[in-house]
Amino acid sequence: MNAFVDTFVQEQELSVRLIGDEAVIVNRATNSLHRLNDVGAAVFETFAQRGMAADAVRMLTSRFDLSDVPQDEVESDVEAFIADLLERRLIRNTEFAPLPRAPIHLPDWREELERIGVDLIAPVWSKIEISTRCHLDCVHCYIPYDDRRRPIPSEKRHLDNDEICRVIDELAAAGAMLLTVTGGEIFIRQGIFDVLEHANRRGFILELFTTGMPLNAEKVARLAALNVGNVQISLYSHEAGTHDAVTQSPGSWERSVSAARQLIASGVNVEFACTLMQSNVADTKGMKELGEKIRATVSFGYPITSRTDGNRDTHALRTSGPELERAIRDLPEFFAKPAPKPADQPICPAAVNMCAISASGDVLPCSQFHLPLGNVREQSLKEIWESSPVARRVRAIRTGDLKPSVAGALDSYVGLCPGLNLLEEGDALIPARVTAETTLAVDRVLGSSTHAR
Ligand SMILES: C[S@@+](CC[C@H](N)C(=O)[O-])C[C@H]1O[C@@H](n2cnc3c(N)ncnc32)[C@H](O)[C@@H]1O
Ligand code: SF4
Repeated sequence: MNAFVDTFVQEQELSVRLIGDEAVIVNRATNSLHRLNDVGAAVFETFAQRGMAADAVRMLTSRFDLSDVPQDEVESDVEAFIADLLERRLIRNTEFAPLPRAPIHLPDWREELERIGVDLIAPVWSKIEISTRCHLDCVHCYIPYDDRRRPIPSEKRHLDNDEICRVIDELAAAGAMLLTVTGGEIFIRQGIFDVLEHANRRGFILELFTTGMPLNAEKVARLAALNVGNVQISLYSHEAGTHDAVTQSPGSWERSVSAARQLIASGVNVEFACTLMQSNVADTKGMKELGEKIRATVSFGYPITSRTDGNRDTHALRTSGPELERAIRDLPEFFAKPAPKPADQPICPAAVNMCAISASGDVLPCSQFHLPLGNVREQSLKEIWESSPVARRVRAIRTGDLKPSVAGALDSYVGLCPGLNLLEEGDALIPARVTAETTLAVDRVLGSSTHAR
């Protein structure tokens, strides 16, 4: 290769985010994640406009102080870097055709993206609640009943589609790469595909939370074309009757499973999300078997929280005692306690590498942490992210700031979700009783010194 006679352009299937001076890139053709430092990002940007190695050298010598570095060393470094970018398939020689899009597999790079987000303090993984409206009435739903039904109370007026698209642009500018779209039920919203297609054009890798029930063959084909990273379908049991009792909708299991099958047949990754409660806690094995049978991954959710208006009637659905202990035995990896964090460690990534936009435009530190940093109708997302005093306070919380657990002294595993603490105890720093009780049950079943790796 002689990089000085070739012309290069960036590959076409890249999602690029410029965060500070750095570039974070997902290559959707190779399903890989890349981080380029300031010099790398500047050279890479040269190739957005049909660049040659000589252009990159000129740009570098004008932008960076390289007076100590001999010219031939700069040239050979640029040449080596071009070879690296070519190998990573981030640029191509213009003589070659662009690489086509390939299936996205989030687990391959999601954790690395999250780590980069922590490092750069950028909301790389963000969530948007498109609407609180829903066609179902699940017994445990954290969204208050009135917010799921029409008309939505005026003080909670939802963002319209144009506002949502603007917020999506602002999220991209803030460095968001992975966008979880949730509801309510997203597929009963008018114009949802316009929103999803807009996000896709802005380079977002999408994750969708849905019952799957409103999907049909045409919508499944549109989702497959968007190369969605993950569709999470809530399924509460491998038994239709148990699931339908949770959703209070006969026939809902059939329709959700049928949507999952259609998506999988179209090459879309499906994850069944099974929130554990009394009625389904014995079904973990059956759920795993169903997932294996139809090639869906299965994840479990725990605990059942209060509703977001503070109503605690959902607590009656929670599992406890011998049932919970059995679930812990069945899912030891899921329940095992994370190793205790030192007291000076940040408590969690809320407002550090993530944020969540509520249906009415509040920017939350995470979807479970109902402490608005600001509202996108009043300020830009960038302004909120960079200047909100609440964001600064949330980022400063350390595990050592936690108050004693009301359920007794327990190790520092308890209370690490300040959003849950706030929802359950009214104070982000008071460990939620439910996590303390769960930890005691984990200790009984797995032993008090057991920690997840
Ligand atoms: C609110 S729903 C929105 C997406 C879609 N309507 C669905 O049900 O999949 C997102 C997830 O939150 C879970 N969820 C709802 N209420 C909950 C609660 N009180 N505690 C824990 N998880 C809850 C649901 O089971 C679902 O998996
Ligand atoms: S389908 Fe989702 S949003 Fe609708 S009631 Fe059930 S959990 Fe709530």
